[in-house]
Amino acid sequence: MKIGTPLSSSATKVMLLGSGELGKEVIIALQRLGVEVIAVDRYPNAPGHQVAHRAHVINMADPRALRTLVEQERPQLIVPEIEAIATDELVKIEQEGLATVIPTARAAQLTMNREGIRRLAAEELGLPTSPYAFASTLAELKTAIDGGIGYPCVVKPVMSSSGKGQSKVNTPDEVEAAWNYASSGGRVDAGRVIIEGFINFDYEITQLTVRACGERGEVETHFCEPIGHVQVHGDYVESWQPQPMSEKALQASRDMARKVTDSLGGQGLFGVELFIKGDQVWFSEVSPRPHDTGMVTMCTQRLNEFELHARAILGLPVDVSLRRPGASAVIYGGMEAKGIAFAGVDQALQLPESGIRLFGKPESFIRRRMGVALANADGVDEARERAKAAASKVKPVA
Ligand SMILES: Nc1ncnc2c1ncn2[C@@H]1O[C@H](COP(=O)(O)OP(=O)(O)OP(=O)(O)O)[C@@H](O)[C@H]1O
Ligand SMILES: [Mg+2]
Repeated sequence: MKIGTPLSSSATKVMLLGSGELGKEVIIALQRLGVEVIAVDRYPNAPGHQVAHRAHVINMADPRALRTLVEQERPQLIVPEIEAIATDELVKIEQEGLATVIPTARAAQLTMNREGIRRLAAEELGLPTSPYAFASTLAELKTAIDGGIGYPCVVKPVMSSSGKGQSKVNTPDEVEAAWNYASSGGRVDAGRVIIEGFINFDYEITQLTVRACGERGEVETHFCEPIGHVQVHGDYVESWQPQPMSEKALQASRDMARKVTDSLGGQGLFGVELFIKGDQVWFSEVSPRPHDTGMVTMCTQRLNEFELHARAILGLPVDVSLRRPGASAVIYGGMEAKGIAFAGVDQALQLPESGIRLFGKPESFIRRRMGVALANADGVDEARERAKAAASKVKPVA
């Protein structure tokens, strides 16, 4: 395994497709290893653009724009950071040997659509999931609920993330609103939804799972300590590590994580989302890339999830050990404005064992994630209190 010199003919070149806060941290990790990094996003001055060797603005869902840029830059590795990409083109790029897609083009293709990954997990791999059905019209949605899914259930566009277009449906008179919301909140195929039976879980976790090269060059699977998190309207607001779990639930979680990541293949870090009730575990979904709830690892692990991803994709060894319990709490924009400022960072950092990341997003929206507060403590309960307190001290100002 060799790494070249950036900006020379020996450079090891990596292209990030999507350069938000998660991509930014992957880029920083790659930069530290002497990799030449090309950051791509749909808008200028995205967080990752600000720390890469070169930045490009294209519509990544446009196959021709994507191919043109890949042919121009000739990266060895393409690292998708978001789901809304022309993944069919990535499959072609990979087949032609133009670049390696992380972890694989098929993984990107399967996970960009809830139908692909859910059918793989439940129907091919036999993992326990919520009961589910798909619908392309309001009538089909009603039939699916009445025909077995029942109430309460969750309706989501098949292509969406961060809870966009997602709603919980408690009664028949809420179905139409859920349909309308999903059709307006989806990304590409505005007409198709998944309906999932509501799982009344005790807690939910992200099982970060790393596929990396071992000493003899074969891919080995590594498991980070489980991350607990709280979601509001399908979007993460708080996470902590380690989440206490029964031995049985932890084992079942890791068995499922191994199955699904083995199937997706390739090298890199995955975020496997699981629901847990007692010793029972349900698979929910998986990101074939660093996970937003995994931002907590910036203060808890010896190598955070971004460093683990960077190492794994380059064929380097990993270490998933936990250093100290910790927590993260999201800092929202709270206003619609460009070029905002953040007051109170000094006060946040007065709190014991606290840290702050501000993503540098050029434009704020009320519920846009603009930063994250991190904190450590002897236990996760105290760490959560500290992280939430630190986040609350940071005040977005116009
Ligand atoms: N079937 C379900 N039963 C109970 N809760 C659910 C169910 N589906 C989703 N949720 C809740 O909504 C959250 C978001 O759902 P999901 O992960 O499917 O959406 P998403 O848009 O992909 O979110 P993200 O991109 O942030 O992971 C889950 O983490 C969970 O808290
Ligand atoms: Mg999710």
